[in-house]
Amino acid sequence: MAQEDVFKKLVSHCKEYGFVFPSSDIYDGLGAVYDYGQMGVELKNNIKRYWWDSMVMLHENIVGLDSAIFMHPTIWKASGHVDAFNDPLIDNKDSKKRYRADVLIEEQLAKYDDKINKEVGKAAKRFGDTFDEAQYRATSPRVLEHQAKRDALHDRFVKALNETNLEELRQIIVDEEIVCPISGTKNWTEVRQFNLMFSTEMGSTADGAMKIYLRPETAQGIFVNYLNVQKTGRMKIPFGIAQIGKAFRNEIVARQFIFRMREFEQMEMQFFVRPGTELEWFAKWKALRLKWHQALGFGADHYRYHDHDKLAHYANAATDIEFLMPFGFKEVEGIHSRTDFDLSQHEKFSGKSIKYFDPELNESYTPYVIETSIGVDRMFLSVMSASYKEETLEGGETRVVLRLPAPLAPVKLAVMPLVKKDGLPEKAREIVDDLKFHFYCQYDEKDSIGKRYRRQDAIGTPYCVTVDHQSTEDNTVTLRDRDTMRQERVPIGELNAIIGHRVNITSLLKTL
Ligand code: GAP
Repeated sequence: MAQEDVFKKLVSHCKEYGFVFPSSDIYDGLGAVYDYGQMGVELKNNIKRYWWDSMVMLHENIVGLDSAIFMHPTIWKASGHVDAFNDPLIDNKDSKKRYRADVLIEEQLAKYDDKINKEVGKAAKRFGDTFDEAQYRATSPRVLEHQAKRDALHDRFVKALNETNLEELRQIIVDEEIVCPISGTKNWTEVRQFNLMFSTEMGSTADGAMKIYLRPETAQGIFVNYLNVQKTGRMKIPFGIAQIGKAFRNEIVARQFIFRMREFEQMEMQFFVRPGTELEWFAKWKALRLKWHQALGFGADHYRYHDHDKLAHYANAATDIEFLMPFGFKEVEGIHSRTDFDLSQHEKFSGKSIKYFDPELNESYTPYVIETSIGVDRMFLSVMSASYKEETLEGGETRVVLRLPAPLAPVKLAVMPLVKKDGLPEKAREIVDDLKFHFYCQYDEKDSIGKRYRRQDAIGTPYCVTVDHQSTEDNTVTLRDRDTMRQERVPIGELNAIIGHRVNITSLLKTL
């Protein structure tokens, strides 16, 4: 099945089974805003719990924070968002569709990469075991030709971005003959800058209302509280502050479902270190964060680093962790070495000293910061897309199954009486009433057992228990495993011991 079709199916699966709904659905939706349904909210909470515990519970020197969405507007002046949180946008005059100029060029670069990879793939098939990929890449005239074009484009693109040269960005689009995917034409407008922050007014107009912004990242709430936390928590450098919360961006190109939203959620951690040690910490966090992702078991081939070509003026290192989505490798998390830029700016704009006194060095300084920043919604999408499977079973029957990591699954156990009589529902309810204190259980008595299994497979429930007539005699049930579909007879009293540790977030945390 084409990846595009897989993605479409995933989107409709998310709606059909209560994971994600378009916001304001009965009013035909609101662009790039989504609601999480009864299953989605459970999965989302589990992702957040996995992140939070891995940061705050597993690190003595990381603590949490929940700062407000509304903040003093000068914060966004100091952080540079008012002046520079822009995207370069370009319109196609025929389709009237708006695009990010940098994204159009990045997609063009990816096309060159695809061409190179195709050449290499074909050669690998042709030569079999004797194939030397490095040598082929270095000598094949076709590969070299594509590579040269790619490198030239890449250098031009990076230069234009670094110089914020909007005319040159447009010229690249023209020279590369990039067409609008809707109209198929090259009839482009100029490239313009567009600020991504939403604003609103605080206070009544009579009082002189103040223009404030909906935060475009949670990080600034951490920066402006860093000294409050450091002092009241008696934190010693190096230490971190973790926060989960909503962020808002007026994205120009808001497609691809929950990948790029206007209201989304971030999980950010700012790690404050001694100046001069930041690159060492950057390397540590880069490795730790990849490990966190890989512990979910989707396979190392689903992830890659993307080191930034264009560093923000305040950063001295930056990388993305990209995940193989149905539409290619895409950024899920950013890890940035932000130097002392943010704290110094807040010091300057607030006029207050926010230096840290280092008792070991007996001196005060502005700490440097390593940031790890991951979008909850993108993480959700990556987990869903890697878990969604359509399988053909023995006998030709098909099933849709979400092979979610058990600790992230919304429902951990479904309890089903074989029939709705002979005391089986009561027995099944007893099991739920006992286990519901340990993990999320669902009682399900409607339809045939086969249909009930399919329903639970479709929401990713790792275990199902069937209560039959034997259960009322010997207190045993059949326990079915979602992935293998194998069933075993187990005592009811042992269910928690068998399932509990497998579905608990702790089992994931222990692998980190
Ligand atoms: N404080 C740094 C920061 O915000 P970013 O790379 O702009 O960095 C971090 O965003 C993460 O937030 C991204 O890797 C992505 O997962 C998520 N994110 C950013 N914009 C998003 C959007 N419009 N919709 C969903 N997630 C988004």
